[in-house]
Amino acid sequence: MGKFGALLFHFFFTIFILTSSFSCEATDEERKASSSAYIVYMGALPDGEYTPSTHHFSLLQSVIQGSSIEDYLIRSYERSFNGFAAKLTDQERQELASMEEIVSVFPSEIYQTQTTRSWDFMGLHETIDRRLSVESDTIVGVIDTGIWPELESFSDEGFGPPPKKWKGACDGGTNFTCNNKIIGARSYLEFPSNSESVRDDVGHGSHTASTAAGNHAKDVSFYGLAEGTARGGVPSARIAAYKVCEPDGCFSHSILAAFDDAIADGVDIITISIGHTGAEGFDLDTIAIGSFHAMVKGILTVNSAGNSGPALGTVASLAPWLMTVAASSIDRRIVTKVSLGNRTTFIGSSVNSFKLNETKFPLVHGRNASAQCSESEARRLVKGRIVMCDGVTGIKEAFRAGALGTISVDGIYSDASFIYPLPAVALNSTDYAAVMSYLSSTDNPRATVLKSEAIIDSAAPIVVSFSSRGPNVISPDILKPDISAPGVDILASYSPICPPSFSSEDKRRVNYTIMSGTSMSCPHVAGAAAYVKTFHPEWSPSAIKSSLMTTALVMNNNKDSNKEFDHGSGHVNPIKAINPGLVYESSEVDYIAFLCSIGYNDKKVKIISGDNSSCPKSSDARSPRHLNYPAITTRVRPGKPFTVSFPRRVTNVGNKSSTYTAIIFPESKELDIKVTPSVLSFKSVGEEKSFEVIVKGSGLSQNSIVSTSLVWSDGTHNVRSPIVLHSLNVR
Ligand SMILES: *[C@@H]1O[C@H](CO)[C@@H](O)[C@H](O)[C@H]1NC(C)=O
Ligand SMILES: *[C@@H]1O[C@H](CO)[C@@H](O)[C@H](O)[C@H]1NC(C)=O
Ligand SMILES: *[C@@H]1O[C@H](CO)[C@@H](O)[C@H](O)[C@H]1NC(C)=O
Ligand SMILES: *[C@@H]1O[C@H](CO)[C@@H](O)[C@H](O)[C@H]1NC(C)=O
Ligand SMILES: *[C@@H]1O[C@H](CO)[C@@H](O)[C@H](O)[C@H]1NC(C)=O
Ligand SMILES: *[C@@H]1O[C@H](CO)[C@@H](O)[C@H](O)[C@H]1NC(C)=O
Ligand SMILES: *[C@@H]1O[C@H](CO)[C@@H](O)[C@H](O)[C@H]1NC(C)=O
Ligand SMILES: *[C@@H]1O[C@H](CO)[C@@H](O)[C@H](O)[C@H]1NC(C)=O
Repeated sequence: MGKFGALLFHFFFTIFILTSSFSCEATDEERKASSSAYIVYMGALPDGEYTPSTHHFSLLQSVIQGSSIEDYLIRSYERSFNGFAAKLTDQERQELASMEEIVSVFPSEIYQTQTTRSWDFMGLHETIDRRLSVESDTIVGVIDTGIWPELESFSDEGFGPPPKKWKGACDGGTNFTCNNKIIGARSYLEFPSNSESVRDDVGHGSHTASTAAGNHAKDVSFYGLAEGTARGGVPSARIAAYKVCEPDGCFSHSILAAFDDAIADGVDIITISIGHTGAEGFDLDTIAIGSFHAMVKGILTVNSAGNSGPALGTVASLAPWLMTVAASSIDRRIVTKVSLGNRTTFIGSSVNSFKLNETKFPLVHGRNASAQCSESEARRLVKGRIVMCDGVTGIKEAFRAGALGTISVDGIYSDASFIYPLPAVALNSTDYAAVMSYLSSTDNPRATVLKSEAIIDSAAPIVVSFSSRGPNVISPDILKPDISAPGVDILASYSPICPPSFSSEDKRRVNYTIMSGTSMSCPHVAGAAAYVKTFHPEWSPSAIKSSLMTTALVMNNNKDSNKEFDHGSGHVNPIKAINPGLVYESSEVDYIAFLCSIGYNDKKVKIISGDNSSCPKSSDARSPRHLNYPAITTRVRPGKPFTVSFPRRVTNVGNKSSTYTAIIFPESKELDIKVTPSVLSFKSVGEEKSFEVIVKGSGLSQNSIVSTSLVWSDGTHNVRSPIVLHSLNVR
């Protein structure tokens, strides 16, 4: 993918285990060389008198031979759950892992960070009904690269003091001041020398924070592109910034520390546009662990699905208590035209703020410049010319060699536009080949790259190719991703010290920039969730999640798509979500039963929950399909007849007395679906009713995905859950 992969905000790190960076006594040299950072997870905090750090210290002391334990303890988790991060040898890791009170021990890894028009596109217009006083008591916790507090999006004009429930701190470090909009700031960098403050030196955190909860910023644009008022989903809400990423990536033990604080600080929603590739068990995954304890405290965590698509089974955010977000297009696309010497014009993607003169410049093929030439020869060949680059990697080289502009092939990123340090455009392979044929057909090939323009994309929303896809490779009975939201060409705040193309040679500096990724779609759903919460402050995380999923706009399910494994329940629709009619709720007890159903024993769930929780005795309840999820999915063996049942419960949150009828829509040739009972009559708000969905079929062909949906309708509300069965062979 090359250097420009950074445009998608994946840091270039393969999994890398932190090696010792602490200094300590020479006697421990050997140990130092063979130790690495691990997270020791110990579940919920015990009730009553308990000093976590003392306990952590003594556990370490019991396995580490020698002195200076403090050199090996990286961090204690002690506010919202129990555990610590430490430098351990393999033997020490094994000893700890075998202890009764320890759930899991796993290596700390490097995770990667993965708007004007977008909120209108989702139907959340500026003039909509808002609960402003509740909104201003709502706190969105942003776990990311920090924040740039002076930007207009974070202005606290008209804001009162922080809500009374706020227990956090403004610990932003050097030259960082909070205000009544940004009420909290904490930093967890492994290498604090990278930055001494929560100030965003990457740009990603300011972008996500402003998308979720930014204040109105009028007349902003990227050099005139995507012009308008930028705002978050809940412009009056407060922001607490937790900086866990340094320019090279985000350590998972830092992410866990941010969860530990955010939960105890009293945030209402957590948005985290960070992830890793490769799925892991829920007790080995910091985001799953942190968000579990957040859920117990009534906080919904919204997480990006990842940018590893379009292959199936690539989504790595898999826990059922997380809300996992895919990225889709909005009706505004940023495109760039190339005009050739023969007056033909092609349309490609890029965000190009540069204006070349009307004149057309000589066009050369990059291979000539780099393959067999010396560096000086290459320079001579590309200087003052438009260079054609077969791959995106060539763009930076061409730029360094003095090219005036580049034309490249868009590859898998065809459906989003990225910023380059020079006039550049990415064409699809057909158009690129046409330009190549023009180049070789004339003695004096010429071309120019025009400034980008915004066009209307009537096909939107469509999930972008890079968005990570389901199915869930850990729990095939839990649909992932859960939902889709805008993640293409999104304008939002940026760090004014960072080049918008992420290329150090780029001298431009901006307060607002255009980015694409599931990192951008995640805070849209976090903003929507916060918006729903302002109408229903008492709702559980699962009720908020259910309301967003069951009211989502139905998305394209044609036979070429991966159906719900692309987009989950559909495209987020915040206005509808405030009045869903019915919700599918799951509480801690349900999630514990779910963990039991996937192999956790009584002992483990007791530690995780910190109470007398135990696994249900009846074998009946021991299927992950029994989790009251607002979507229905499972894997079946290809070619074999199947009958699968999914028990579910819904809670009435609409009118006091209402009657809902089950509808299966659209009709499915492959699936025979029975819902019993098929009519649910409610007499009061908060009343819960159970039903069962039985899905039968005579066998799916190999590697197929079939889907339909269950809609509970009372004539006003249509409570929709996708039903997805597949016979894919992933993992
Ligand atoms: C960017 O924001 C700063 C305040 O942080 C402001 O002083 C500056 O004028 C803004 N720059 C642009 C180009 O709008
Ligand atoms: C604080 O940071 C801002 C933004 O980078 C900068 O303009 C200002 O000079 C800094 N102040 C000090 C005292 O370092
Ligand atoms: C565009 O034209 C102006 C003057 O006509 C010149 O100074 C400038 O260098 C030209 N730019 C490019 C990219 O050729
Ligand atoms: C590549 O360079 C050679 C000589 O340097 C030239 O003859 C040829 O036309 C060039 N090809 C392209 C596609 O520019
Ligand atoms: C490339 O785009 C053109 C329109 O500009 C379209 O006609 C063509 O089918 C596209 N080719 C591919 C491979 O997508
Ligand atoms: C210009 O060249 C392109 C690429 O070979 C070709 O598709 C197009 O038809 C040409 N236009 C004219 C007006 O000849
Ligand atoms: C756990 O304890 C509480 C109170 O002590 C009790 O109400 C509850 O029924 C117990 N739950 C289980 C699963 O034993
Ligand atoms: C109650 O029902 C009416 C119509 O029957 C509907 O317009 C309204 O939205 C419902 N209220 C709620 C809270 O669902």
